[in-house]
Formats: sequence, structure tokens, C-alpha cells
Amino acid sequence: MKLLIMIAAMIFASSSCSDAQRPSSGTSTMPDEKILIVYLSRTNNTKVVAEMIRDNVGGTLVPLELENPYPENYEATVKQVVKENEKEFLPPLKTKIDDIKKYDVVFLGFPTWDMQIPPPMKSFLSQYNFKGKTVIPFNTHAGYGAGNSFQTVRQLCRECKILDGFSTEGGIEKEGVLLAIKDSRKKEVQTELKNWLRKIKMVE
Ligand SMILES: Cc1cc2nc3c(=O)[nH]c(=O)nc-3n(C[C@H](O)[C@H](O)[C@H](O)COP(=O)(O)O)c2cc1C
Repeated sequence: MKLLIMIAAMIFASSSCSDAQRPSSGTSTMPDEKILIVYLSRTNNTKVVAEMIRDNVGGTLVPLELENPYPENYEATVKQVVKENEKEFLPPLKTKIDDIKKYDVVFLGFPTWDMQIPPPMKSFLSQYNFKGKTVIPFNTHAGYGAGNSFQTVRQLCRECKILDGFSTEGGIEKEGVLLAIKDSRKKEVQTELKNWLRKIKMVE
């Protein structure tokens, strides 16, 4: 009887940790503690994709926060971002990564802003040393694609291995569509994302 209870407990334990926030067991090709997922997200579309990546491959999820957050107003934010890009201004970050050395793989998630990588991601890429790491960009946009953001990752991260990025349509804040990656769209993105993770060999 005792043996039966133990077997039942083991089966329950193994099935309950394969869902929720851990990667589905056995599919990730990398140890959990070696993966960092850093993302910038204003209206949560990129955040949802970052969480999906974490659920598939594991790793530490870190939202990028600024010392001086952008305005709530969309148009004011666009104006500020255009200026920052013109001046090549790197906004100071509140987020600090304690020990970047311990990560072998860094996923970098960001929305397209001004058809570029957002200034805070430029700050992040300029601030840390990614030498020898595998860097994997991912992106959401409002229908115009990733712009030149993936090229910028390559320029700012010269001594690292950069894998093919993932880009998918998210919200259209300009038209009042904030979080779009939900319900049936979320399922679609989940499928696209899983295919991409298989292609870049991050899952089996
Ligand atoms: C300041 C700003 C600039 C943007 N510029 C673009 C752009 O140039 N092209 C585009 O397709 N979407 C653009 N967008 C829309 C976002 O890329 C899109 O809504 C994305 O899914 C938002 O991601 P988030 O929900 O993680 O913040 C812009 C949004 C903001 C706030």
C-alpha cells in the first residue's frame, strides 16, 4: 500500500511540474539557470511572448525598467523616442543584472519603435558585455515588422553569436488596440513561437 501511494505521489509530482511556468520537461535544450530573458514592453504584447519563451525553455525573466519612465500618452512617447533616436540618447535603466557572466543564452525582447529597436534596449546592449554569449532577439510590432532592430542587435553585439530572431504582430496602440496577443491570437503566436524555437534548436 505504502509503495502504491509513493508511486501515485511521484506521478502527480511529475505531471504537476510540467505545466505552469516551468518548461515542459525534457524539451528545452539548455539548462534553466543559463538562460536570461530580458524584455521591454509597454502594452504587454512583448511581455506575453517573453513569458511563452520562458514556459518553453525556462530561464530568468527580467522586465527592462527605466529610471525615468516614458509618458503614458502615446503621441508624447513617440515624439520623445524620435528625439532620443536622433540624438542617440541612451536612457538610464533602473534594471540591473547582477551577474551577466552566468548566462550563456540571452533572449532580448522589444517592440518596434520608430521602425527601430527602442532606445532602452540600446542602453541595455551598450551597458553589458555579451562576448561569447548566444543572443536571440524577439519582437512585436503593429504591422510594419521589426524595422532595422535585428541589424542593430548585430551591430551592438559584435562578439556574440546571434540567432535568427522572432517577430510577430502585437498591438496597435495608435488605434487603441493595446494587448492583442490574447485568446485565439495567443494560440496562433504560441504555434509560431514553438516552430521558431525548434528551428533555432532551443527546444527539441
Ligand atoms: C513609441 C512607439 C513607437 C512605435 N513605432 C512603431 C513602428 O515604427 N512600427 C510598428 O509596426 N509599430 C510601432 N509601434 C507599435 C508597437 O510596436 C506594437 O504595438 C507592439 O506590439 C507593442 O509591444 P508591447 O505591447 O510589448 O509594448 C510603436 C509603439 C510605440 C509605443
